[in-house]
Amino acid sequence: MKHLKKINALLACVLFAVSAYAETVMISVETDNVSMVMGTDKSGELLFYHFGGRIADVSAFKGFRSYRRSDYGTDPMAYPAAGGRYFNEPALAVEYADGYGNTELKYVSHKVVRIDGNVARTEIVLEDRLTSLKVVLVYTSYSREDVITCHTEILNGGKKPVTLKSYYSSSLPVKADKYFLTHFYGAWAREMQVDQEMLTHGIKTIESKKGVRTTHTENPSFMLSLNADGFDENYGEVIAGALAWSGNFRISFQMDETDELNVLAGINPYASEYRLERGKAMVTPDMIYTYSFAGAGQATRNLHDWARRYGCYDSSVMCPALLNSWEGAYFDFNTKTLTDMIDDVKDMGLEMFVLDDGWFGNRYPRNDAKSGLGDWETNVSKLPEGIDYLVRYAHDRGVKFGIWIEPEMVNPKSELAARHPDWVVKSAGREIPQIRSQWLLDLSNPEVQDFVFGVFDRTMQMAPGIDYIKWDANRHVESFGSEHIDRQSHFFVEYVQGFYEVLRRIREKYPEVIVQACASGGGRVEYGALKYFNEVWTSDNTEALSRVFIQYGTNMIYPACVTGSHVSAVPNHQTANVTPLKFRFDVASAGRLGMELQPKDMTAEEREFARKAIASYKEYRDLVFYGDLYRIHSPYGKGDHYALMYVSKDKRRAVVFAYCLRYQGRALVPQFRLYGLDPDMRYSLKELNVDKSRFWGAGKVFDGTYLINQGINPQLMKVYDSAVYYLEAE
Ligand code: DGJ
Repeated sequence: MKHLKKINALLACVLFAVSAYAETVMISVETDNVSMVMGTDKSGELLFYHFGGRIADVSAFKGFRSYRRSDYGTDPMAYPAAGGRYFNEPALAVEYADGYGNTELKYVSHKVVRIDGNVARTEIVLEDRLTSLKVVLVYTSYSREDVITCHTEILNGGKKPVTLKSYYSSSLPVKADKYFLTHFYGAWAREMQVDQEMLTHGIKTIESKKGVRTTHTENPSFMLSLNADGFDENYGEVIAGALAWSGNFRISFQMDETDELNVLAGINPYASEYRLERGKAMVTPDMIYTYSFAGAGQATRNLHDWARRYGCYDSSVMCPALLNSWEGAYFDFNTKTLTDMIDDVKDMGLEMFVLDDGWFGNRYPRNDAKSGLGDWETNVSKLPEGIDYLVRYAHDRGVKFGIWIEPEMVNPKSELAARHPDWVVKSAGREIPQIRSQWLLDLSNPEVQDFVFGVFDRTMQMAPGIDYIKWDANRHVESFGSEHIDRQSHFFVEYVQGFYEVLRRIREKYPEVIVQACASGGGRVEYGALKYFNEVWTSDNTEALSRVFIQYGTNMIYPACVTGSHVSAVPNHQTANVTPLKFRFDVASAGRLGMELQPKDMTAEEREFARKAIASYKEYRDLVFYGDLYRIHSPYGKGDHYALMYVSKDKRRAVVFAYCLRYQGRALVPQFRLYGLDPDMRYSLKELNVDKSRFWGAGKVFDGTYLINQGINPQLMKVYDSAVYYLEAE
């Protein structure tokens, strides 16, 4: 971030600024292949003309007429406010001190700031002349990635306070014949299931009101296929969007009487009216958009490229392959259990050991989920030698060490709860509901922010060189409220702002430690958290068949380098399903690989297989982390197979994962066309982790055109058959 600011200061070059709208002003936000075009009308309103393929000369829009009735509503506006003649869902709704709710934003000026060769920021100032409320629309364009992010800065320039009733980050008008929406729904342990529908007139909304841990049910992201009746990986125009916010969100799609669609995205207005004092500003979170002309696959690749470069915390660090203690030991361990696990890490070729829940609390020992949260001292009866002993034990063996914390939470049965009942999120006079026997600490309170920062800080100080922190959060907000703030409707927003402030301080002091956002699995899978966290715990469901669907959905928006993915024991602890070890490895290796079981329970053959699979993963994992993802066959598709591949940027190397999810009979043999390869290259193809290959062509060299146009037909016929192929250009 600092680095960016510096470049900004050095390179900032204001290209132009205009401050009158007597003449039409055209504004184009551009990437290599995409233009977003806005312009003023005669009254000074900022209209939104275009988001799509690049338009070289936007002056062509001067004099543009939509031929709609001009005395009835308006043409699409760049940031529609409630009032005036606008009758759709507004991006901004303000109540002024006199009780009126009309806002009419008019163009004042704009400027373009070039950050570097790839990034430019366009700031457009709008104002309501009667009330002096200003809105700055901030668009940041990332040329190579074809990504444009948008947020707003709303400033009360009037003399009296105003109340913001809704304050979305962006409003995006889209014009097509048809709109096919793909979004992600689910629940704990079943996150990111794909939900698809054709949009019709009216409003479709995806949202969360859970306050914290907001992404189990809906994810603040989507894909919109234009002029299409369905979803296509490789063809057609697709807009993908994702909101960078860790609190309540709302994304709505309104198709109106003109058959245009307006997409509003931002903080959920639910219970969040925000009072802006005179001279104060509200900065909304970034909404990230990309536009693809080559189907959903390209939209994904654009987002992944952007995320790895700009959206996620230091994606250049490859999170090590790890063993996590949770499903192997739960709360039941002592020093010997853990040092044995560290030895097993070393033996199997893994690189890091992560000590999960259960290591702390003395007066109220953390021997189950009912006590101890908040009391972050090492439990001396379980671990008398201390954490520093374990860290040294690991480091002496060349194994990295990570540890679990859940710093925003407190068990009622803890010393912290007795000391600080005032720190708990609650609605005065009402019962404080528990989830998993715990309460939530109120991060809108700076004292709590200091405490939470301190938990992280002291954990890091327990031993030199802790390499990884797993930050958990196992409940959401219920009966919301804060003893600290005056305006309860500020709570949801100020909680998230407090969370970010703590993370900012942590990153200032600990820029290098790898931090995972775990929130009962996939509760914090969004780009707001990923600005500070290196990765997410994709789901508490470690069962490989479930993971196929969870990872398919998650990786549509978020790159594989951030999705932790573990091999666990069978019968699986969540679903009781039994899958072969190879299938479990082949699914987990398509993300950031880890294991989460008691290695002592593995047979000698299983261990041997694990060693091989981990060694081969290390050979190709740079492709999984940094390659281009091509989804070859959807797990929701016909044939009950799933296949995907990652291709290096120079197209010289690729890894293909293929799975059979249900019994096929002997008739349905899959044919996987390996899009993403170079037709002009020749590739050697080998199958990994098997003695006998499932594909007749393993070991041969193929022409790129064959692999792209004919593809491979591995024998994956029985349920949970799976294969991994590695391709390298000659
Ligand atoms: C929920 C997490 O998602 C699990 O991985 C584990 O860390 C437990 N919490 C520990 O309580």
